[in-house]
Amino acid sequence: MTHEEAIAVARPRLIFALDVGSAAEAREYVARLAPEVSFFKIGLELFIAAGPAMVEWLVGEGHRVFLDLKILDIATTVGRAVAAAGRLGAEVVTVHAEPAVLDAAARGKVGGRPQVFAVSLLTSEACDFASDRVAKVAGMAVACGIDGLIVAGHAEEIAAVRAVNPALAVICPGIRPVGSDPGDQRRVATPAAAMAAGADYLVVGRPIRDAADPLAAAQAILAEMAEGLLACG
Ligand code: C5P
Repeated sequence: MTHEEAIAVARPRLIFALDVGSAAEAREYVARLAPEVSFFKIGLELFIAAGPAMVEWLVGEGHRVFLDLKILDIATTVGRAVAAAGRLGAEVVTVHAEPAVLDAAARGKVGGRPQVFAVSLLTSEACDFASDRVAKVAGMAVACGIDGLIVAGHAEEIAAVRAVNPALAVICPGIRPVGSDPGDQRRVATPAAAMAAGADYLVVGRPIRDAADPLAAAQAILAEMAEGLLACG
């Protein structure tokens, strides 16, 4: 695989976290990043500010949407919320990693959508037992029939998921290019390291959002992701 081919493989696996406070700002980032990014994460800030219309707009523009609402509630509400996210067009939704929540979320899917991912541990939390926790959540995910886990881009966490079931997908936030500010993130990984460790998708927010040139920052991250893919063959 050439570097260019590796970038083409990496491109659909980069998710930009649209952590902004209004629909207007979000639309501006989407327009600027559209040449390279087609998968966008809507978290609590933007969902509260701009609502479901933002999801519908992104889907209408042909983009993929990861609705990161980290749902935690009684089983009936979890199932109905997941079903509503699917109807809205979200491809991925996150829930808390508790057996009853995962089970209800899996049952809420309609026609296999949306994909449900469990948040194992926030990447802003330092943890000496992250791999143990991740392995436990992966076991729950398999038992409940959900699609994957949100984990740090560390080789031992991703390996812990794959050891339980290689079919579980892995999305990694807390990604920081070499030399960038970790902010409040603790369990960080570089784009190259996370891809080399086997991540399916990387979530990147501030390193792109706060860059003087967000498109150039996204391109540099894609180049780093490509290096990671090439390094693991
Ligand atoms: O700006 P930064 O790249 O740190 O953004 C990371 C994004 O991923 C944020 O939107 C955050 O809410 C989300 N996230 C995370 N850790 C998790 C799950 C989601 O940082 N475990």
